[in-house]
Amino acid sequence: MSSKKITPSHDHDHDKVHKPSKEFSAKARIPSMAAYKKLYKQSIEKPEKFWAGEAKELTWRKKWQSVLEWKAPFAKWFLGGKLNVCENCVDRHAEGPRRNKAAIIWEGEPGDKRVLTYGQLKREVCRFANVLEKKGVKSGDRVLVYMPMIPEAAIAMLACARIGAVHNVVFGGFAAEAIVDRLEDSGATTVITADGGWRRGKVVALKPVVDEALAKYKHVQRVIVVNRCGNEVKMEAKRDAWWHDEVAAVPAKHKAKAFDSEHPLFVLYTSGSTGKPKGILHTSGGYLTGTYATCKYVFDMRDEDVFWCTADVGWITGHSYIVYGPLANGVTQVMYEGAPNHPDFGRFWKMIEEYGVSIFYTAPTAIRAFIKAGDHFPAASDLSSLRLLGSVGEPINPEAWNWYHKHIGGGKCPIVDTWWQTETGAILITPLPGATPLKAGTATLPFFGIDAAILDDAGKECKPDQDGRLVIRKPWPSMLRTIYGDKERYAKTYWSDYPGIYTAGDGARRDKDGNFWIIGRLDDVLNVSGHRLGTAEIESALVSHPAVAEAAVIGRPDDLKGQAVAAFVMLKGNFTESEDLRAELRNHVGKVIGAIAKPDDLYFAPGLPKTRSGKIMRRLLKELVTTGTISGNVTTLEDFSVIENLQRQISK
Ligand code: WT7
Repeated sequence: MSSKKITPSHDHDHDKVHKPSKEFSAKARIPSMAAYKKLYKQSIEKPEKFWAGEAKELTWRKKWQSVLEWKAPFAKWFLGGKLNVCENCVDRHAEGPRRNKAAIIWEGEPGDKRVLTYGQLKREVCRFANVLEKKGVKSGDRVLVYMPMIPEAAIAMLACARIGAVHNVVFGGFAAEAIVDRLEDSGATTVITADGGWRRGKVVALKPVVDEALAKYKHVQRVIVVNRCGNEVKMEAKRDAWWHDEVAAVPAKHKAKAFDSEHPLFVLYTSGSTGKPKGILHTSGGYLTGTYATCKYVFDMRDEDVFWCTADVGWITGHSYIVYGPLANGVTQVMYEGAPNHPDFGRFWKMIEEYGVSIFYTAPTAIRAFIKAGDHFPAASDLSSLRLLGSVGEPINPEAWNWYHKHIGGGKCPIVDTWWQTETGAILITPLPGATPLKAGTATLPFFGIDAAILDDAGKECKPDQDGRLVIRKPWPSMLRTIYGDKERYAKTYWSDYPGIYTAGDGARRDKDGNFWIIGRLDDVLNVSGHRLGTAEIESALVSHPAVAEAAVIGRPDDLKGQAVAAFVMLKGNFTESEDLRAELRNHVGKVIGAIAKPDDLYFAPGLPKTRSGKIMRRLLKELVTTGTISGNVTTLEDFSVIENLQRQISK
């Protein structure tokens, strides 16, 4: 996968070290670096012992016989054990003293509010599990979930887990063709959706997009639709049903069966270096152990905490840190449907004040948007309930870190910069808030049981400050098990750079204190606003337009998004460049993949720079859009005149 040479160092602000405060450390589960180092050492010497200790805190119907079976690159965790993931997240709290504790405090974008206690959540989940079973959904069946950020999204996921069905959540911003691809790849026969969701004061229709997808993919037998916005939708009599009608007709009790620890829990698609997204498969016991334990130590979650992760359930962050991890810990959460700037950039801060949020987890791209909007927005709310902040999705630049620390955390909250991936299931590299000294821009140190390292091209461990590839040398419970339906691609993508070692696809370096600094992806994957997009995917969307002969997509640095999408398009002979065509091609990508993938810049290129063997030299395109010229090595370039042409395009 990461066959590319490792890029040279970027500069980082290594300046200030923020030590955890005495007050924070005094109450933290891991109260000092000495405590971290001791437990880390033990966990690396005996990872199975560490993970078994965490797994024991969950509810198992049958205890495992072996903690780990590792036949590289295939891992099985807690083999022989049986559990129900939903029971762990819902029933065990609902049946104890947390019964009437708020599980989810939800706000719709228009301002409507709902609170679900653990007791109520259990009844809702049980009802929906009964609906699924009544409609013939069986253990192992794939269920596609295409929902706005409403409680029913979490309820649908938990109900699938409860009956052993495998959910595949598709982010509500993805287009019909992306749904078709996922339905085809996963072989799903059930879809759960809503009429629409609220975003920036408007209804974003969802059911009509599902209908468009189902006109192409004919194997879906049932569609269940939440009535959220009241927008006009067509219901197909035999296939489609309203959520509210269905749940009203079934009991609020449901007996949860136990499933094998390795029973599939969900598939979540993510971009890779080819045009075809990868279905990342996660299973039950190990995934739950990983998300549970990281919530407990990284967010230091307590019964009295109010946790808010601003991600969408359509991404892994929403799976692990809205649904499974926090609920397994029995914590109270805030969930929000809409945009951070609706009706203005004060929305989040008003909600933090209203609900007394104590732990807040968001992305650097959002922080940069808040900085731009102005300090007066957070200043207008009382944020004193916050005690801990988190960041995820991309390296956090020092400017964003310092602003977040000062204006949101009031200078007193530690910031946990958490590195992980869809594939890793849970946080792997992160500070522990009561122990780790923080520096803006580094995710610091590996979590317990995580044997992270940086290797050079030859497989040797890099020296301090030397760039290399980020790898994990030991299996961990929440790791992906395979790429759905494609073991070979799984083995090749993640395990072929160095035998028996997981390659993350990120470039990184460690400083002399051992802190990990993540540089960015080494493959042709972009990180746009914390979302992963494959350049090949966008290229194939462009080429699917009748006017396009060839396309090359690259990332360019962007102040707000981290990376923006720049596309170079070669038209077919009978088409001519125009502003209308430029707009049409951008919208075409929006229609094929979704709005997040629309190129920010689209250049018409009379030719693309290629090597003599015909490979597009993206490195040169990147240099062109970032610096306006080419200074690097061009000896392998086949025809230099294409560069001169492109230079003229870009300077226009
Ligand atoms: C890629 C994974 C994990 C949930 C969100 C994205 C980048 C993620 C950090 C961080 C630097 C980060 C990496 C990684 N990334 N967190 N704290 N510091 N980079 O999940 O879509 O699977 O993307 O996001 O490049 O490989 P994803």
